Amino acid sequence: MCGIVGYIGSRPARDIVINGLKRLEYRGYDSAGIAISDGQRTEIFKCAGRVRELEEMVMTKEFDGSIAMGHTRWATHGEPNEINAHPQVSCRGHFIVVHNGIIENYSRIKKHLESRDVKFTSQTDTEVLANLMEHLYLEGDLSAEQAIIMALNKVEGTYGIAVYCRDEPGKLFAARLGSPLVIGVGENENFIASDATPIVEHTQRVIYLNDDDLAVIRKDEMVLKAIRNKRVEPEVKEVDLKLGEIDKEGFPHFMLKEIFEQPRAIHDTFRGRILPNQSGLMLGGLHNVFDTIASADRIMIVACGTSWHAGLVGEYIIEEYCRIPVEVEYASEFRYRDPVIKKGDIVLAISQSGETADTLAAIRLAKERGAMVLGICNVVGSSISRETNAGVFTHAGPEIGVASTKAFTTQVVTLAMIAFEVGYRKGLLDEVRYRDLIHQLTSLPEKVEVALRMNEKALDLAKIYKDSTNALYLGRGLLYPVAMEGALKLKEISYIHAEGYPAAEMKHGPIALIDEHMPVVVVATKENSYDKIVSNIQEVKARKGQIIAVVTEGDQVISRMADHVMEVPESISVFAPVLAVVPLQLLSYHIAVLRGCDVDQPRNLAKSVTVE
Ligand code: AGP
Repeated sequence: MCGIVGYIGSRPARDIVINGLKRLEYRGYDSAGIAISDGQRTEIFKCAGRVRELEEMVMTKEFDGSIAMGHTRWATHGEPNEINAHPQVSCRGHFIVVHNGIIENYSRIKKHLESRDVKFTSQTDTEVLANLMEHLYLEGDLSAEQAIIMALNKVEGTYGIAVYCRDEPGKLFAARLGSPLVIGVGENENFIASDATPIVEHTQRVIYLNDDDLAVIRKDEMVLKAIRNKRVEPEVKEVDLKLGEIDKEGFPHFMLKEIFEQPRAIHDTFRGRILPNQSGLMLGGLHNVFDTIASADRIMIVACGTSWHAGLVGEYIIEEYCRIPVEVEYASEFRYRDPVIKKGDIVLAISQSGETADTLAAIRLAKERGAMVLGICNVVGSSISRETNAGVFTHAGPEIGVASTKAFTTQVVTLAMIAFEVGYRKGLLDEVRYRDLIHQLTSLPEKVEVALRMNEKALDLAKIYKDSTNALYLGRGLLYPVAMEGALKLKEISYIHAEGYPAAEMKHGPIALIDEHMPVVVVATKENSYDKIVSNIQEVKARKGQIIAVVTEGDQVISRMADHVMEVPESISVFAPVLAVVPLQLLSYHIAVLRGCDVDQPRNLAKSVTVE
């Protein structure tokens, strides 16, 4: 939910950290700050607002140094203002902290410290952490490292932190519990960041911190220690992220770039996973567990937001091709409802970021109760991808826009590949059918290219409907989750209230909403529920509702009934969600732009919800 960047080395640190924070603004952007030290003098600059405002502020100062750490915030404790912005400084100035996460027991610690005459200025839990470190440091005559370890043993909750102690200027400290943190290993310089995107332009060598790790970082050395138990050895990985992948490359917004990247992203999802002559699939990450999946009594999919919608599509796909019962749950509900999990169950987590706190907590609960836990993630090295027993990466490339687009389509493609492979291994798909499905898969990217041609039509419709106050999205079967996904896209970036609903459910309530002011988007490609959705459209028309229909190219029935039509190519049912969602992504994008909304960083949202 927040972005952290740190630098210690021989180069001027200020611009390195500021530019790094810009790459993390998709994680949070309501206030920002930076601490800079030249070893003797340390200055802190903070502002309520975006990183660019912080940059304008620091550019007017002459001061720079070779150590810096910065933060871009999504407020959890305390309103987004300068006082609550990070870095937070302990009351006597010894400790400076930037933090991503939530200290659950901060108020009890704060009361104890106040009773010991410790003064506070902000409303943040992070200031409590900084003051706790300083209190232990001064009272116990400890080293900074000892004080940090002791403080972190007293807090409950989650943190990804960078810490600077003014009395030990040659070091930065980094620690994580529940919030991601990556160390970049350079030549005579080291980096800290919430993910690899600020680091890759400087080094491809990274270390993903694990829970309970404390990193003591000098410019030429990095030592990993454990906060609660034995010392650990760092595992340096080569990250294969290229700078170009995290720039807009000429698009006005990351979201539009990522919508148009979907043909390439889908191709990358199956690239290297189809055997020669399209004779089979090879999902290496699941290779050792396919038989376990095939013999599962039940699959429970846990996810949030768009990933949850992909999971709903997965339910239809897996039950159709594998005949295994599937339940799809919001991870936030699953983790708190004391679920019944039996030995033969498989829990499948779907998460683009691989850091969503609720989904991470759900898989930890599932593992505690003996389930086999699998993952579908997009970020290599993410917590969920490292804590599941096995899994598959979607290989969609970095998704920076807060509104998920290519994550959804590549998640559905991944679920389809899993279902095809399990269905084949269970003998439910013969060789011919199995190979044909693989062939259909390989033709999907060019079908998505065709669907993207609806861009101009989506813009035209956006001009008509940009001032709507409500919208209803309807679909049936595996297009019902697409209706929900289309509604989520619209509401989260244009702030128009929108609901996705199973079309048949409309007569049980939502039909009361229909009037001539209500745009009704109907996802109505040629599937087996087509005739039924024709009736639903008639019900809407009878009440003067305005129909925007997503139909299969050449449709002769609904296209004549609807007020507006967006066409997508024909495909087998399993891939209809991948095609039908594209016009809805484009429609929500253009409406948001016409409304002057911040498409890539919508208000109140963040890309990775790493707090509950
Ligand atoms: C979708 O557009 C949102 N950004 C949000 O609902 C997102 O899908 C959800 O927070 C889950 O994120 P994850 O896939 O990274 O776990």
